[in-house]
Amino acid sequence: MKPLSRPVRMHIASVGVSKFCFLLSLAFCGLLLLLIPTLQPSTRQVDLPQPRPQVRPAQTGSSHHTRYPAGSVHAGETDSTTGLKRSSAGQWGSIETDVTRKDNHSPKRGTDSKTGALPGGKRSGLSGLRTRDLLELKDIFIAVKTTKKYHKSRLGLLTQTWVSQAQEQTYIFTDGEDNELRRRTGANIINTNCSAAHTRQALCCKMSVEYDKFIESQKKWFCHVDDDNYVILPSLLRLLSSYHHSQDVYLGRPSLDHPIEAAERVKSDGSVSVKFWFATGGAGFCISRGLALKMSPWASLGNFISTAEKIRLPDDCTIGYIIEALLEVSLTHTHLFHSHLENLQKLPTDTVLDQVTLSYGGFENRRNVVSIVRGFSLAEDPTRFKTVHCLLYADTDWCPKLKARHKH
Ligand SMILES: *[C@@H]1O[C@H](CO)[C@@H](O)[C@H](O)[C@H]1NC(C)=O
Repeated sequence: MKPLSRPVRMHIASVGVSKFCFLLSLAFCGLLLLLIPTLQPSTRQVDLPQPRPQVRPAQTGSSHHTRYPAGSVHAGETDSTTGLKRSSAGQWGSIETDVTRKDNHSPKRGTDSKTGALPGGKRSGLSGLRTRDLLELKDIFIAVKTTKKYHKSRLGLLTQTWVSQAQEQTYIFTDGEDNELRRRTGANIINTNCSAAHTRQALCCKMSVEYDKFIESQKKWFCHVDDDNYVILPSLLRLLSSYHHSQDVYLGRPSLDHPIEAAERVKSDGSVSVKFWFATGGAGFCISRGLALKMSPWASLGNFISTAEKIRLPDDCTIGYIIEALLEVSLTHTHLFHSHLENLQKLPTDTVLDQVTLSYGGFENRRNVVSIVRGFSLAEDPTRFKTVHCLLYADTDWCPKLKARHKH
């Protein structure tokens, strides 16, 4: 900038520096007053936490705990590709957080770290599009926990059914080498070298390896299931598409109707207790990458095992403890995940394919299966997984050819 010309300098000198400064600040204040009304609305939008994305459910749940995806899938009209073809409203899903829980609207959860945008329902189109996760199946890391004893029976059924549709992103965590299993499936098989015993330590050992492999994979979502779960891939994709992987998301079915209480032995000496919810591992659960990364101090490289040892709880409880008690992120309750501990016959037949995971009763309760009948008898398909699979992927070569469509 050029130095002030002589007459101006002289003028300043004559009026006096202090008076000039006074006038200048007056002008500045005036300008500010004029600007305040235009600035206000935008600052308010940034500060106020906004509600999570909510779209009216297609079906109303029996209780406020029940959530269904917005676009319900029925047998026959199921698209074997993805849930992404659904309306843009459907992509937001209808996964409401539990209204009775602690404040879910606090900005600490669900904040998009990249755009700084809150997952609000009301917002301008552009930021809404940016936070919507255009998710593909390959973005999901699906961990299946098993043990050598079940390679033939349980895993055989899974590799024949849903795993065959998601081989690249399915990771089978087991405890023994099995070359035949490796030959049979294109899925990733990881020998955790953990004990085959069904103890807390062995299960936590496997979860610890699952966590590390997920972090290594660079995928957007971590989903854990057991070897007696059927994963309805289009439903899973649709559910996760309603969130963004950089949000803090922990999705699953609470195994109890109240939070669990445990002695706090990580942040304190165990003299105080903590209450937290956890997603039952037997029904499967999912964690966003953003949240998984925050779990690292208590979950990575063997830390999961020591965390579990400190609070003396099973693997799925420990996950809940790290997320809810240590990171203060709430479990998003969803009843789309199912374990063998539920009465699966009670699931309405026309909603079976809308669910994210299914299961079946074990030896003690063989008749606890979903009530879906089509093509296979109970003797041919005791778990009903084959029936479900053929409703989802009718072109599979071993499926009964009820309708001769897409025939060459
Ligand atoms: C298990 O042990 C084998 C053989 O020592 C090793 O190659 C493999 O990496 C180990 N698995 C894990 C998850 O550490």
